Amino acid sequence: MSILFTHIKELVQVREHTQEPLRGAAMDETPSIKNAYLFVEHGCIIDYGSMDQLQPHPAEEVYNCEDHIITPGYVDSHTHLVFAATREKEFEDRIHGLSYEEIAARGGGILNSAAKLASMSEEDLFNQAQQRLNDLMAMGTTSIEVKSGYGLSVESELKILRVVNRLQEKNHIPIKATFLGAHAIPLTYKEDRDGYLKLIIEEMLPAIAKEQLADYIDVFCEKNYFTVDEMLRVIEAGSAYGLKAKVHVNQFNAIGAIEAAVKAGAVSVDHLEVMTAVDYEALAASSTIATGLPSCSFFLGLDYAPMNEMIDQNIAVALATDYNPGSTPSGNMNFVFSLACIKMKMTPQRAFNALTVNAAHAMGLQDEVGSITKGKRANLLFFKNIDSIAAVPYNFGNSIIDKVFVNGYDINN
Ligand code: NIG
Ligand code: FE
Repeated sequence: MSILFTHIKELVQVREHTQEPLRGAAMDETPSIKNAYLFVEHGCIIDYGSMDQLQPHPAEEVYNCEDHIITPGYVDSHTHLVFAATREKEFEDRIHGLSYEEIAARGGGILNSAAKLASMSEEDLFNQAQQRLNDLMAMGTTSIEVKSGYGLSVESELKILRVVNRLQEKNHIPIKATFLGAHAIPLTYKEDRDGYLKLIIEEMLPAIAKEQLADYIDVFCEKNYFTVDEMLRVIEAGSAYGLKAKVHVNQFNAIGAIEAAVKAGAVSVDHLEVMTAVDYEALAASSTIATGLPSCSFFLGLDYAPMNEMIDQNIAVALATDYNPGSTPSGNMNFVFSLACIKMKMTPQRAFNALTVNAAHAMGLQDEVGSITKGKRANLLFFKNIDSIAAVPYNFGNSIIDKVFVNGYDINN
């Protein structure tokens, strides 16, 4: 099928190349064409330009988009979409003054989610995750990364990653799978950390690799979770199976995880609520993407990752939701966009670049999505009756998207 969109009020995030993530001053621009056309064929962007330059195109369908701003879809490079149950009780406990860490120490948190997931069937987990994904796509997410990590046993970690695999087969958007066996130490291994690391490295990883269920490997490197040395052991074991690292670091404490992860070649380091001078230095000289998760800071009342400071130090940054039942029960990228502008003081241009082009780099999809570029997928957002993309974060708490296209098709038709 071929479609020609004509008279587009503004076509935003138009880029010839996106081989490198955006840094520094390049983050301040979202190149666009006013009164534009866009030609899409077989699900891909074939051509675009200003209406003055429009040559005759043999399009099967033609749409006048004079009321619409068109952008690429959001790329959510960090989610825990597959979980068994919500955790409102912990939410109430926090309102009464307990901290996230205190709740975890009492057996709540990740261990609570793992206990619930163990007793849920793969079928039910899949159905719930698919419903969540449908909701996210309607809010503009058209590429997503999904982690395991609420299994913490061979059987349950495999169950989650098989669900992610089914999501990949059933949906037409790019979905990357990340193995996060090192999310927390299960109670049964409380006195035997090394035993759990061996389980991850010698049993979970080979089984996951055999079924080709993961693209990336992740570790929650944090006090009371996994040490820097343990993170490095898991990253190294993953790399033997071709899995690159995307890791949780610096959420509550700076313990040297960033420098170590960068040295180990991590694709991204995520959270970054607590940063030191050494952390900035390690990232500035690297190709690792620094991913901020402002909805998590919002929900837990943490500091926000210092995105502008990182951009000013030439660090490549992205933004993602961190959708999960404990620290971020929202997968709405529009809300991340608003928080980035309102709380992190990023300009709409910086935030949008972090939500699209750089987010694609954070999950190895820079040649496929994240911008209006010839050859990329036609995963597009249509905004009606707005004058600039600043209207998106301005309308916080709402999704003002009129239409979402995946591979050239309106997801609602
Ligand atoms: O990214 N920090 C580690 N993992 C999740 C939260 C996990 C949970 O509380 O269930 C996060 O915030
Ligand atoms: Fe997370």
